[in-house]
Amino acid sequence: MGTILITGPTSGIGRAAAHQLASLGHHVVAAGRNPAKLKRLVYELNATGGSAEPLLVDLASLASVSAAAAQFVASGRNVDVLVNNAGVGMASGTTVDGFAVQFGVNHLAHFLLTAELGPALRPGSRVIQVASQMHHRASGIDFHRVTRPARTLKGVEQYSVSKLANLLFVAELARRRPDLVVHAVHPGLVKTSILPWFVRPFIRGITPEEGAEVVTWCATAAEPGETTGGYWARRRPIELSETARDPVLAQELWRRSEEWCAPFRTH
Ligand SMILES: NC(=O)c1ccc[n+]([C@@H]2O[C@H](COP(=O)([O-])OP(=O)(O)OC[C@H]3O[C@@H](n4cnc5c(N)ncnc54)[C@H](OP(=O)(O)O)[C@@H]3O)[C@@H](O)[C@H]2O)c1
Repeated sequence: MGTILITGPTSGIGRAAAHQLASLGHHVVAAGRNPAKLKRLVYELNATGGSAEPLLVDLASLASVSAAAAQFVASGRNVDVLVNNAGVGMASGTTVDGFAVQFGVNHLAHFLLTAELGPALRPGSRVIQVASQMHHRASGIDFHRVTRPARTLKGVEQYSVSKLANLLFVAELARRRPDLVVHAVHPGLVKTSILPWFVRPFIRGITPEEGAEVVTWCATAAEPGETTGGYWARRRPIELSETARDPVLAQELWRRSEEWCAPFRTH
């Protein structure tokens, strides 16, 4: 049984995945921003026979991401699986560091978290990125635009760009760290609070438990452990958009993400 660090465990898909992973006997490091929600979750997981601990992190602040990773690395333990799950959808504004909120939280914070947890990711460790089929709507990344505030009505556009960034990140990480097992997943259309409140009643989505199933499977099953750089839904590989398969764009995103995160790197 291993140590699984998951972001966004306090709601929706992440919360369901945290329960599934704990019930399989893994130790869950629950990385979230809300101390009260984290405390309740960790209590629930431990009270139902699991093993869990909280890790406080605000993914809208790169300094907070760096501090949380340093706190974990200082414990001297390894991360067997990192689940980059947290996300924001139709939101406006910027992160603390001035990035469009979807790009900053969904992509850049997870880029930095993965890099800063590097010393704890040993050969064979897995990195699972929760992405989305919404990435098909993004035809590229406007690197100027992602450093500007998101507007609510453009939230879907910025969300799609951030999910494209997730997939490019997975491709490039798999190329750079062949010793790791790196996969992206699409959980399906899941009824969670990430969907705008006014569309939620009209959507026939699946439950968070059903959505989390592919996350738990990719994090723990034998089959995804045999390959790297995949994109999965319902335990099957699925198609990336042409843009998400562009190695030049993946490298440019990596280079820019490194530059943006450089002031927050500790090693
Ligand atoms: N729902 C779908 O149909 C769907 C489809 C495809 C992909 N996805 C992906 O699935 C993932 C999980 O989304 P969900 O549907 O489960 O949404 P959700 O219920 O809204 O959960 C989002 C999680 O992210 C956390 N979060 C948001 N901003 C944060 C921040 N600044 N710092 C730390 N944590 C933060 C939230 O924390 P709080 O509890 O504190 O708010 C929450 O735990 C996302 O990556 C999303 O893109 C969802």
